[in-house]
Formats: sequence, structure tokens, C-alpha cells
Amino acid sequence: MTSTILILNGPNLNLLGKRQPHIYGHETLADVEAQCRALAVELGLAIEFKQSNAEHQLIDWIHDAREAAAGLIINPAAFTHTSVAILDALKTCEFPILEVHISNVHQREAFRHHSYVSLAATGVIAGFGVHGYQLALRHMAHLLARKT
Ligand code: DQA
Repeated sequence: MTSTILILNGPNLNLLGKRQPHIYGHETLADVEAQCRALAVELGLAIEFKQSNAEHQLIDWIHDAREAAAGLIINPAAFTHTSVAILDALKTCEFPILEVHISNVHQREAFRHHSYVSLAATGVIAGFGVHGYQLALRHMAHLLARKT
């Protein structure tokens, strides 16, 4: 069993740092990836870090991860609130799934209060800014250590 953790990012997160910085902050997705890579070394985990604006691409990556990964951290972005297809893909996975939102979605528009993805998630982190990715990675390490 590999201990590779897949970190997936959905639509518009490629614009992190430029996009509504009052909500999502000034750090870029490359900054977040670098922070996750540094923490992964400390935790003894391998990570893959990916972003797509396309629903089918995220689904294909989830399918690949079913065999290849030990856990998934996902910020599905707007697909959180719309995608039964991503939920169905996640439901085929047996590893822990941690859902991350940079913003506190519960404090925002009503349509952001519902998450399809949460139906498949082991846990949800929201409103901690980009630090939420590191919290999720630390919790993933904790879950995987408990399993062995
Ligand atoms: C988000 C919250 C979503 O509602 C939004 O569509 C995003 C980002 C977050 O990280 O806070 O694109 O997932």
C-alpha cells in the first residue's frame, strides 16, 4: 500500500492569490503546493497536487487514485455545491477523504451551505484560509498512522 496522498483542487483555484483576495487571501496555489510539499516531507508522506477547472478531469483523477493513493484531500470549489458526479466518484473510494474550503462557506451565500462532497467526506475543514490544507494533511497523517 502506497502512502501517496492526492490533493485535488477544483475550478478557479488556479487563480488563487488574484481571485477575490479579501475572501481567499493573497497566497497562490503554487504557494499552497509548496507548503504542502514541505509538510509532507516532515510527515513522511508523498503527495500529488493537482488542479483542474474541468469536472471530468477531477473525476478521472479520483478514479486513478482509487488504486494508487492512500487518501484524498479535495477542495472541489464550486463543484462542492453542484456535482453529484464527483460525489459518485468519491463514493467508489475506500480511503479517507478530507474536504477543504479556504473560506467559511457557512458564513457565505445560502447556495454554499450545501455540499454534495460532504456525503462522502471523512471530515470537512472550512474557514481556516489556505492553512486548512496543512491541517488536512496533518489529520491525514494521523488517520494513516492509526491504520498501520
Ligand atoms: C471554496 C468555496 C466554494 O464555495 C467556492 O466556489 C470556491 C472555493 C473555498 O475554498 O472556500 O471556489 O471551495
